[in-house]
Amino acid sequence: MTITARLQQPLIQVENLGHGYWMAGEMVPVLRNISLNIYHGEFVAIIGPSGSGKTTLMNMLGCLDIANEGSYRLDGLDIRKLSDNKLAQIRNEKIGFIFQQYNLLPKLSAFENVELPLIYRNMAHKERKRAAENSLRMVGLADRMHNRPSALSGGQQQRVAIARAIAGDPPMLLADEPTGALDSKTGAEVMIKMQELNQLGHTIIIITHDLTIAEQAKRIIRIMDGEIVEDRGSGI
Ligand SMILES: Nc1ncnc2c1ncn2[C@@H]1O[C@H](COP(=O)(O)OP(=O)(O)O)[C@@H](O)[C@H]1O
Ligand SMILES: [Mg+2]
Repeated sequence: MTITARLQQPLIQVENLGHGYWMAGEMVPVLRNISLNIYHGEFVAIIGPSGSGKTTLMNMLGCLDIANEGSYRLDGLDIRKLSDNKLAQIRNEKIGFIFQQYNLLPKLSAFENVELPLIYRNMAHKERKRAAENSLRMVGLADRMHNRPSALSGGQQQRVAIARAIAGDPPMLLADEPTGALDSKTGAEVMIKMQELNQLGHTIIIITHDLTIAEQAKRIIRIMDGEIVEDRGSGI
C-alpha cells in the first residue's frame, strides 16, 4: 500500500463492537454496538460517567483485550486474527499507553523506565539511549533522568510516563484519565504536552470524565451505558 493510501485509511476502524463480563452466571453487557473511525492526526477525547465502559473500550483499542463481538482494525490489521505475540509487538510499536497512576516501575530511574519498552523492541543500546534522553528532554525532565519515581512529583511522574509512551515514536497515544491523579494546574500542563505531541503528528485518544480536559480535544466522543451517544467534531 502507498503511504498516501495508508494515511487515508483510518488508523482505528471499529465496527459493531460489543463486550460484556460474566457475573454470577449472567453476561452483563458493558459495550454495545460501538462503531467508530479515528484517523491519523486526530485528537480525540472519550468521555462518559464512571462505569460507562471507557476503560473497557480503551483496553480494546489498545489491544489489551479482544471484544466478544464486532471487528477492530488497527492500521488495517484485523486484531482478532493476530497471535498474542503479534499483539504484544503491535502494542509496543504502535501504541503509547499513559495511565492515571503512571504505572512506572519504582526501582528503576526515570531514564530506565523510559528505556524499558525500547529494550523489549530490541533497539540497539546507543539508539535507545538517544531516544530515551530525547523524550525525557521533550517533557522537560532532562535534569531528573536519574531519579526514581519516588523522588518525583505526581506531575513529573506522569511526564516520565508520557516520555515512555513517546520514546518509540508510536503513531498513537492512548491515555486513560491521564490527569485523574493530578491537581488542575499540573493536569493542564500535561494537557499542553499532549497538544504539542498532537501537533507533531501523534494521534491522541484521551479517556476522561473531566469536561475541561475533554474540551481541549478536537473531537469528543461521549459514551453512556456502553454506547456512543454523541460524536462531536469528527472528520478532519
Ligand atoms: N473485569 C471485569 N469484570 C467484571 N466487570 C467489569 C470488569 N471490568 C469492568 N467491569 C464493569 O464494566 C463496567 C464498565 O467499566 P469501565 O470500563 O471500567 O468503566 P469506566 O472506565 O467508564 O469507569 C462497570 O460496570 C464495571 O463494573
Ligand atoms: Mg475507567
